[in-house]
Parts: sequence; structure tokens; C-alpha cells
Amino acid sequence: MSPALLILGIVALIHCVFAAHAKKCPDPGLLKNGNIHFTDFSYPHFINFSCDPGYILQGPNTSQCLKNGQWSAKLPKCQPVICPPPPVCEFSVLLYHRLKPGNVSVFQDEIKFECLLPYALFGNEIAVCQADGKWSAVPECRTVECPRPEGIANGYIYLLLRRAYHYKETVTYGCNPTYVLDGPVESRCEKTGQWSTKPTCRAPCAIPVKRATVLYNSQKVKVQEHLKNGVQHAEIIWFFCKNKKQHCSYKVPARCNDGKFTVPACFKDQRIQLFWKTDVADLPPCETIN
Ligand SMILES: *[C@@H]1O[C@H](CO)[C@@H](O)[C@H](O)[C@H]1NC(C)=O
Ligand SMILES: *[C@@H]1O[C@H](CO)[C@@H](O)[C@H](O)[C@H]1NC(C)=O
Ligand SMILES: *[C@@H]1O[C@H](CO)[C@@H](O)[C@H](O)[C@H]1NC(C)=O
Repeated sequence: MSPALLILGIVALIHCVFAAHAKKCPDPGLLKNGNIHFTDFSYPHFINFSCDPGYILQGPNTSQCLKNGQWSAKLPKCQPVICPPPPVCEFSVLLYHRLKPGNVSVFQDEIKFECLLPYALFGNEIAVCQADGKWSAVPECRTVECPRPEGIANGYIYLLLRRAYHYKETVTYGCNPTYVLDGPVESRCEKTGQWSTKPTCRAPCAIPVKRATVLYNSQKVKVQEHLKNGVQHAEIIWFFCKNKKQHCSYKVPARCNDGKFTVPACFKDQRIQLFWKTDVADLPPCETIN
């Protein structure tokens, strides 16, 4: 290669590098909550700006790479949409609180609504500041009345008032003596205008045997003496049954279930006490024999 050609080549290379450098604008970076549309960052191309839904462009929407390698306009900003104060003044019973600090609501901010008692909230309790600058559906506060609460069989309601009951008010139930309350003690006036589930009073059980020594609350007792009045719902009595072959006794449980009591089939009632006969409960337990 001749020296002249080499010099020419170097000059051309320098020129190219210099020209390219002069015509290229710096990378504009990222536009937060928006996009930069471009094909080229070099003279004389334009780049365009747009914002994501819920954001508004503040500043120019386009910028050109100038001959001097500078952009014609600075990056704009994408500002979130602002929602007006939530519409609550018309109902003084509807309150809201912001879930984020600050007194201005912007896109995607949420507020939580609440109704003052005795009003009940209907709809979504959370509203969101939408991309269009409006709040999503705001809930409503309505009064709710429940009918007079119904009584329960073998039980009563404490302090039943002679007025209407409203949302979230409760009544308390009780059972007559020897009956056992099953279920929630309180019933609540619900949004639906109905009372929540009432309890049931479960009946005691008479023990349908004449004589027997049984295990009751871990104690050996005689039915004819200690359990004449029966037992309460859900109580368990262990009966002693006889294994004739091995001459021993084994225990079988029976549970009072709302007035129903089934004596274990293996139990033999001794209607009259025969003084020479050993009580089954006094036989050695079969467990110890085996
Ligand atoms: C920028 O916007 C202009 C005018 O709307 C359009 O002609 C051009 O193609 C856009 N350029 C890019 C890179 O999106
Ligand atoms: C930029 O905004 C002008 C109006 O201010 C509009 O005519 C033009 O189409 C917009 N260009 C782009 C790329 O959004
Ligand atoms: C919102 O807060 C800013 C400062 O945090 C305060 O300058 C402005 O007055 C407040 N606006 C309202 C409507 O309370």
C-alpha cells in the first residue's frame, strides 16, 4: 500500500468517526411511566414520547436530534392522573380514609369507605382512582332492620327489647335448666335483614335402667342413686358389661344425644338386687386378666 493511499484512508476514517459522532445524540434514557418511540438517535431523527394509561404528558411530545448532537427538547414527565376528593359529603354517614398518606388522590390510589352504624355498607368498600380521573364505584349506606328475633324451644332470649333491631345488633340466647346450649350464644342482625344462626337447646336424657353401677365423670356411681334425674346433653356414661367366659368386666360408653340415650346392648339390667350376686362393676376388669 502506498503512503498516499494510507494517509487518505486514515483521513477518511477520522472523518467518518467524527461525522458519526457529531450527528449522534445521547441516549435519552427511560421515561418513567411512559415510552420513548424511536428508530434512531441520530440527526435528523425525531423521537416521540407517550405516557402509560393513568399518566398525563407534561412537556413536549417529541424531540429532534439536531445537527450539533443535542436534542431539541428535554425529556417530558408522565404525571399521574389526579382524582377529585371522593364524593362523600352528600351522605354524612359514609366515611372514607386514605390507604396512602397525602391529601391528593392520584391514579391507582385506593380509599376505603365505612358506614356509620346503624347503617350497613352495600357495594365495594374500596374505591380506586382510575385512569380516567374518576373514582370506581362508591358504596352506599342503607339502614337495615331485622324482624323481631324468634325464640328457641326450651330456651329464651335475654332482655328482648320492644323495638326494631338494626344491623349488627345482637340478642343473646339461654336455655332452660338441664338443657344445654348448642351453637352460638348470640345471633346478629345481618346486612340481609336476617338474623344469623340461632343456637339450639339440647335435651337431657333419662337413663333407662333400673339399677347399675356406672362410671360417670371418672367416678363409680349408682344410677338409681346419683343419676335419677338423668344426665345432660353430650355427657358420657360408661357401663360395665360382663364377659361370662372369663368372668370379668369391660366398659362400654353411651352418650346423651339431645334426649336420646341408648344403653349398650351388652349391659344386663338387674331389676332387683340379689345379695349373693356380685355387681358386674365389681368384677375384675378384663384388661387386667388378659
Ligand atoms: C413521531 O411522530 C410523528 C408525528 O406523529 C411521526 O410521523 C413519526 O413517525 C413518529 N416517530 C416515531 C419514531 O415514532
Ligand atoms: C404532539 O402533540 C401535537 C399537538 O400538541 C399533536 O398534533 C401531535 O400529533 C402529537 N404528536 C405525537 C407523536 O403524539
Ligand atoms: C395538601 O398538602 C399540602 C402539603 O402537604 C398543602 O400545601 C396543601 O394545602 C394541602 N391541600 C389541601 C387541600 O389540604
